[in-house]
Amino acid sequence: MTNKTEDPTLFDPVDLGPHRLPHRVVMAPMTRSRAGSGNTATPLMERYYRQRSSAALILTEATQVSPQGVGYPDTPGIHTDEQVRSWRSVTDGVHEEGGRIFLQLWHVGRISHPMYHGGEKPVSASAVRPEGEVYTSDGMKPFEEPRALTTDEVGGVVASYRDGAARALEAGFDGVELHAANGYLIDQFLRSETNLRDDRYGGSVDNRVRFLLEATDALIDVWGADRVGVRLAPLSAFNDMADADPKTTFTVAAARLGERNIAYLHVVEQNDFADDARSFDLDTLRDAFGGAYMVNGGYDLGRARKAVASGRAEMVSFGRDFLANPDLPERLREGAELNEADPSTFYGGGAEGYTDYPELEGAHV
Ligand SMILES: Cc1cc2nc3c(=O)[nH]c(=O)nc-3n(C[C@H](O)[C@H](O)[C@H](O)COP(=O)(O)O)c2cc1C
Repeated sequence: MTNKTEDPTLFDPVDLGPHRLPHRVVMAPMTRSRAGSGNTATPLMERYYRQRSSAALILTEATQVSPQGVGYPDTPGIHTDEQVRSWRSVTDGVHEEGGRIFLQLWHVGRISHPMYHGGEKPVSASAVRPEGEVYTSDGMKPFEEPRALTTDEVGGVVASYRDGAARALEAGFDGVELHAANGYLIDQFLRSETNLRDDRYGGSVDNRVRFLLEATDALIDVWGADRVGVRLAPLSAFNDMADADPKTTFTVAAARLGERNIAYLHVVEQNDFADDARSFDLDTLRDAFGGAYMVNGGYDLGRARKAVASGRAEMVSFGRDFLANPDLPERLREGAELNEADPSTFYGGGAEGYTDYPELEGAHV
């Protein structure tokens, strides 16, 4: 962050690595399960992202780095040439509109089902089955126990993040965000209740953060640190996650990421442990990280303004409000009313609840 002004507002520009963002209202990553055959991006997806290109930065829906990383129907990938070509249309569309777009790189780990893997078990840090059910093309099914990756295999998964990052470069993105949040593979290594390993990827905090850092370094090799962001969700229980000492785990993670001078740290502030002694003040992470900080989770105009004006965050990402308001930055700037997101059309389907949310009268796109 090189141009932090004395009294920044949500609508002031900010430099993010080589990119000048015109303001600080970011579009949060959102899975919409509308990918085409071969898990490709479609013309409808291009339209959706193009409509939202007035975001300071678009973070795409989570996108698989390998077939092993798949766990939801109709989600896009970045591991085939066809997928690269399909994403190129999306990045060209957003750039034509003057926007910037980072690809969120994803491996679901245990949040999957053998039906996505030719009958083989999904993989994870350890053989710990999540409570609950998984989305499949045949409806919801109970989770099954995953298989723990061997020590040697972990290097191969890191390589798949590197390949995904290289393909993202080829597809014309402006950078990448590593999805280390919400109970997916990297989070499964980070947190003590899903990581029971006794090799160099498990046990101590330094060992549990190793996979996150190796994946981050792989992205940095491809992109340079200033075009790599990382997303964490330290106090989310989503996907049956918990940690014995989240404050230590995530403070160490944030500090190590800070040493790498990555473009930003993106923290989902949802707190499912608010009444638990293990809860902690997430601002600790901002201080441990020391670089550009992006916050997310239930922000509205008032809270977002305050977060930026107080210096607590450089950027705020909006999920559901961006889903339902393609022109969200303009609406926030004008204090206009917002469309409400319809959860029944979040996942799957076509244009309805996707590209048909109205813009303000007279909007340009
Ligand atoms: C439909 C939907 C899909 C989501 N998919 C992703 C995803 O692919 N990757 C991710 O990191 N978070 C995902 N999230 C979480 C959002 O990025 C965000 O953290 C959450 O919606 C809270 O922000 P909000 O209160 O502004 O909506 C998703 C949320 C929604 C509503």
